[in-house]
Amino acid sequence: MSDIITITAPVNIAVIKYWGKRDEELILPLNDSVSATLDTNVMCAKTSVCARPDINENEIWLNKIKESFNNKRLQNCLNEIKRIARVQKSVDEEFLSWNVRIYSENNFPTAAGLASSAAGYACLVTALAILYKIKTDISTLARLGSGSACRSVYGGFVRWHAGVKPDGSDSIASQIANSLHWPDMRVIILVVADTKKHTSSSKGMQCSVATSELLQYRVLHSVPKRVDDICTAIQKRDFAKFAEITMKDSNQFHAVCLDTYPPCVYMRDISHSIVEVIHRYNEICGEVKVAYTFDAGPNACLYLLEKDVPEIISLIKQVFPTSNPEFIKGLSTQESQDRDFLNQFPIKPFEKDLLKYLIYTKVGDGLQEITDGSHLLDINGQPVG
Ligand code: ADP
Ligand code: DP6
Repeated sequence: MSDIITITAPVNIAVIKYWGKRDEELILPLNDSVSATLDTNVMCAKTSVCARPDINENEIWLNKIKESFNNKRLQNCLNEIKRIARVQKSVDEEFLSWNVRIYSENNFPTAAGLASSAAGYACLVTALAILYKIKTDISTLARLGSGSACRSVYGGFVRWHAGVKPDGSDSIASQIANSLHWPDMRVIILVVADTKKHTSSSKGMQCSVATSELLQYRVLHSVPKRVDDICTAIQKRDFAKFAEITMKDSNQFHAVCLDTYPPCVYMRDISHSIVEVIHRYNEICGEVKVAYTFDAGPNACLYLLEKDVPEIISLIKQVFPTSNPEFIKGLSTQESQDRDFLNQFPIKPFEKDLLKYLIYTKVGDGLQEITDGSHLLDINGQPVG
């Protein structure tokens, strides 16, 4: 019988996007990417694992529903962890013969373009690595579940180095700066849709690699300089530069999606309206105060500094009116009292309820092992509650 191991892991949102693999099997990217890790107190995956002789087959439960273990990526992760355990002789053969039960929950929508796979796989491989007592680079294991998951291993600002080796041994994530480095950096996620997306990132990027000429240009000519520049902007806490690169990279990524044949359309009319509102706001302010970025879905992720949060939240509520009394989730904040500024904003309110809600959060730490006993599996390996 094993102990129960429980981990929480964060979501990360890329500011330089990973889009395109050079190896589908090993999940090796065509380009470096950079992200910020978000606070696990607001959004996180939580996973408990155990191995026992009385579990008849490997099991995974996601958000209280038993899912099929017949999932190639999941099996790759478990097989690789067991392979390393065998090599390192970290547990005995009897332990290795037992099946595992994995019980995981996300406290935010799954498979909706909010990076649940990143948090989920980072959580899962870390819990299993501890269960099997192996010593290895966790980001490499997380990458086998989902590419972007390798960045959720660390807190703060993180770079995933694409690497050049065919075996992927140099395709790892590393921390650029920890979560305290830029203490006033804030993130607002504008949730347009929290239902399952149509074209998965994996399928979308596969199609882009096969058909988009713009992707080749991006990988060779745009990303290398952007990665260097954004790392410098992060080190210097140069928000205007950070924001400009973030927005340009999001725009180019979606241009690549449209250049894909047939095109992958992830942004919607409302997403484009958000882009317009942010550019207008920055223009009126006379400086770049907010950046947007969109993953493979219509939801916007805004990066901004804490001092500008009340004004932006008031502006969002004015331009995208809501009937949701619980519109603001996450960290607590105040709204702006500057009615003059809001009244003079040149974009008139859109129709009600185009935005479902917003999540206000900040840059946070990486993985955490839960040691206070609040596991999702009880001592007999059964789901709690
Ligand atoms: P998202 O945009 O939320 O990352 P994806 O469609 O890319 O959506 O990935 C969703 C998939 O990631 C799920 O179907 C599941 O296979 C996996 N996943 C999500 N959360 C978890 C979790 N907590 N534990 C294990 N796997 C997870
Ligand atoms: C647009 O990491 O979900 O969010 O490696 O196939 O699992 P797989 O893809 P995934 O793709 C993420 C794409 C993105 C950009 C990013 O997070 O860098």
